[in-house]
Amino acid sequence: MVNAEKFIEEAIVEIKREIGTQRAIIALSGGVDSSVCATLAYQALGDRLYPVYVDTGLMRKGETETIQKAFRYMPLTVIDAKARFINALQGVLDPEDKRKAVGETFIRVFEDVARQKQVSYLVQGTIYPDIIESEGEIKSHHNVGGLPSEMEFNGVVEPLKYLYKDEVRQLARALKLPPEVSERMPFPGPGLAVRIIGEVTEEKLRVVGEANAIVEQEILSYNPWQTFAALLEKGTGVKGDVRVHGWIIAVRAVQSRDGMTASVLELPYDVLRKIASRITSELSDVARVVYDITPKPPATIEFE
Ligand code: XMP
Repeated sequence: MVNAEKFIEEAIVEIKREIGTQRAIIALSGGVDSSVCATLAYQALGDRLYPVYVDTGLMRKGETETIQKAFRYMPLTVIDAKARFINALQGVLDPEDKRKAVGETFIRVFEDVARQKQVSYLVQGTIYPDIIESEGEIKSHHNVGGLPSEMEFNGVVEPLKYLYKDEVRQLARALKLPPEVSERMPFPGPGLAVRIIGEVTEEKLRVVGEANAIVEQEILSYNPWQTFAALLEKGTGVKGDVRVHGWIIAVRAVQSRDGMTASVLELPYDVLRKIASRITSELSDVARVVYDITPKPPATIEFE
């Protein structure tokens, strides 16, 4: 991509050419790829585009509100599917089974809406590395960029499929998307489900979501490539004068170029101390906070 403005102009013309006067649907995930893609498609199709956001309950705290605000000018359909996802994840312990459960539930929820809206085209924000990765099958990546091959559409339009992430961010800036969108850290498709060791429950989602918000507040100014909280098992602590059996929160902050390898961000000790203190005092059911000092490899960035 040489020039963002020129790319945008041409992409809009191309979307109009491919979809004509038909209707299209797009799944907005809050990520930069689907956001850029939806913005381009909306400029091309106007109200013939149905942007859909599925609230899986696995997103970061406040994510739904951020998306509603960023895309308030579009006819965005928000689907509350939290209960369906929690049910699908009940008793699921294996990381790849979790990815499958989330991916399949997503497809089912999305299919229901697509049917109701009677759309003929699917627009998706697949980018070049997604294509390479799914060819390599490194992980059963659930990405809303890698949707339903079994769904029936007249066509699938992927305006970003030859672009890399940094190019998509350039487009996001040129399209004047808010920084929470254009500069957003990578977030895995299966969301908080891969940041919870073991079974996903509503309680664990609440705890990890709150802890993550604190981690982001304290670490984002150090410009990590990715930072987040993960929830491990329970451990013993002492709060007041009583021994408690509370959650163990792991904090992760890494530098990376493309997520394939990563080094640990060497945060000042004060910052780590403050995070441990905030998380254990603001979240009564957390007993312990640890900082993950493992690079990738041998660890992965996510915990599952
Ligand atoms: P790992 O954990 O494999 O992560 O070191 C590398 C990058 O990929 C993201 N990631 C995922 N993204 N679906 C996604 O869309 C997934 O299942 C998934 N697993 C990991 C991770 O956040 C990191 O940026």
